Amino acid sequence: MTVTVVCPGSYDPMTNGHLDVIVRAARRFDRVIVAVVANPSKQPLFTLEERVGLITAEVDRLVAAGDIDAGSIDVAHFDGLLVDFCRQQQVGIVCKGLRGVGDFDAELQMAQMNARIGDIETIFVATRPDHSYLSSSLIREIARLDGPVTGMVPAAVERALIERVRGT
Ligand code: PNS
Repeated sequence: MTVTVVCPGSYDPMTNGHLDVIVRAARRFDRVIVAVVANPSKQPLFTLEERVGLITAEVDRLVAAGDIDAGSIDVAHFDGLLVDFCRQQQVGIVCKGLRGVGDFDAELQMAQMNARIGDIETIFVATRPDHSYLSSSLIREIARLDGPVTGMVPAAVERALIERVRGT
């Protein structure tokens, strides 16, 4: 049996914490679909195409470096309910990172709701301790205020962030 999981998110932008969870999921399951939500609740800094492109480039880089198998991670996008995307992909497991108790309530609620409305099982991966304080929103804020984000996001994401906030 081949087990595929969906790692959904806004990825605005993808952080090293996201990437670590995705890669660890890819090593435990046969295939991971990174599902980028088209319309996050807040106006995104990066367009859907940019968010998908940055993740795809990072996955390609990891494949080229031999860190993950080719074809083990696909990047897709969705609009609407996550459970509908999972049904279209014929996947019954969602995999998400959990940074700490701050994430827990909302994540548990979503997991239970997705189980109720779509029969989706959610599996949580404990974030690495040195990634537990990373969040896309904090990283966007720090970049906007000209602070350092090196080591918090992949290098290509850092370059894209700096370009976007400086408007160059
Ligand atoms: O990276 P984020 O913003 O924490 O990701 C949240 C996301 C995209 C996983 C969540 O908002 C989501 O699943 N959105 C799709 C709409 C949906 O299915 N809503 C019901 C959730 S129970």
